[in-house]
Amino acid sequence: MLKVNGESKSVEVDGDTPVLWVLRDVLGMTGTKFGCGLGMCGACTVHIDGLAVRSCITTVDSVAGKNINTIESLSGNRIGSALQKAWLEHEVPQCGYCQSGQLMSAAALLAKNKQPSDADIDAAMDGNICRCGTYLRIRTAIKDAARSLSQSGEKQA
Ligand code: FES
Ligand code: FES
Repeated sequence: MLKVNGESKSVEVDGDTPVLWVLRDVLGMTGTKFGCGLGMCGACTVHIDGLAVRSCITTVDSVAGKNINTIESLSGNRIGSALQKAWLEHEVPQCGYCQSGQLMSAAALLAKNKQPSDADIDAAMDGNICRCGTYLRIRTAIKDAARSLSQSGEKQA
């Protein structure tokens, strides 16, 4: 049994099956992308208990009882919505292939660091490869999302 985006999912696969293949092939959740299959590109990034993790090298056995969150759940929370809005405003995606992984890494960063510096962003996003070279737009969009989250937090306070 896996917990994906808050729902329990029963899957019959070998325990050493990568989470990525369960998401895509068994559960039909194709927002998480396959890039290298080696933990080197970040296209397959999901959250496991809130941490950004490469699902292509994470086995099903290792995530039993943990919360798996994918790009499909991103718009359901404040940080994810702010990031998606900033991504659109700054026209970050080019071919788009790497972007679900980029967004998941960015969301994990903002969940633990509300005002990341350039260096914080570069460190957190290191390993999320973009062949289209959207790195500067990603950095700008993350800062913009952080700013709008802090402003909306102030309004709520
Ligand atoms: S597909 Fe998982 S890191 Fe590249
Ligand atoms: S937008 Fe094309 S690989 Fe990143």
